[in-house]
Amino acid sequence: LEFRRVLFRSALVRRSRGSSLRWMQEPGSTPVPSRVVSATAAEACARVAGEIHGLLAASARAGEPTVLGLATGGTMVGVYSALVERLAGEPVDLSRVTTFNLDEYLGLAEGDPRSFRSFMAEHLFGPAGFAPERCHFPDAALAAEQSGLAGEAYQALIARHGGLDLQLLGIGRNGHVAFNEPGTPEAASTRVVPLHEHTRADAAPSFGGLEHVPTHAITMGLLEIRAARRLRLLAFGEAKAAAIHAALVAPVDPACPASLLRNHADLEVLLDGAAASALGA
Ligand code: PGA
Repeated sequence: LEFRRVLFRSALVRRSRGSSLRWMQEPGSTPVPSRVVSATAAEACARVAGEIHGLLAASARAGEPTVLGLATGGTMVGVYSALVERLAGEPVDLSRVTTFNLDEYLGLAEGDPRSFRSFMAEHLFGPAGFAPERCHFPDAALAAEQSGLAGEAYQALIARHGGLDLQLLGIGRNGHVAFNEPGTPEAASTRVVPLHEHTRADAAPSFGGLEHVPTHAITMGLLEIRAARRLRLLAFGEAKAAAIHAALVAPVDPACPASLLRNHADLEVLLDGAAASALGA
C-alpha cells in the first residue's frame, strides 16, 4: 500500500494557490485527477462557477455553442448560486448554451417539485435565464415505457450536440456518480436503474419518508460521463471522506463507480478540508 501511495504521489506536483492546495499532473505521466482542497465549500463553488462562467463567456464571444453537463444534489446548490451571481455581475449571452442533466427519477408527475427538472429550474435555469427548451433531461416518461429507447435517445441527443464540454459531478457516500451505483461497469451507458438503498435513504427526508422515494431512475452512464471533455467533481463534508478516498486513492474498483473516472484526461476534484481528510497530507 505504501508503495502505491509513493507511486501515486510521484506523479503529482504540489502547488500552493492562496488558501487552496493544488496537486498538478506532470507532463507525460498517466492522467491523474487534479485535486483542489479549499478552505470552505463556498470557495470551491466560486472556483468552479468562475470556470463555467469563463467557458460560457469565451464561447459566446467566439459565437460558439457550449454544452454543459449538469448535476443535482445539495452540493450543487452552492455552485449554482455562485454561477447565478457571476452571471448577474458579468452577463453572458446564453442563447447558444445547451444543457444535459445527469439523471431523473422515474414515476414522478410532470412538474413535481422533487424532480430534478424542478431543482434545476429553481436553482439555475430560472434565476440565470437559461432557455428551458435547451435544457435536457433523460426522458423519464419514455423510460417508464421503453427504457432502452429512452437511453439511446439521450445518448444520441448529446452526440448530436457535439458532446459535453464540461460535466459537473457530485459523489454519493457510496461512491456513486449520477445514479451509477456500486457495481456499475465502466461501459454502462444511459439506462434505467434501480436505486441503491443508501441513495433512497439520503433522499427520504425530501420525499417525506423512505416509502415515498422512487425506486428507479434514468441516468447517464459512465460512458457518456467519461466522454465529457472536462469533469469537475465536488464533495464537501466528513460524510464524503471515505468515498473520496475510494475514488482517488484505493485501487480502481467498480465498487466505487467514481474511481472509474480517475484516469480521465481532465478531471478536477474540488474538496473542502473535511472531504479531503482521509487522503493524508
Ligand atoms: P449531494 O449528493 O450533493 O446531495 O451530497 C451527491 C450525490 O449523491 O451525487
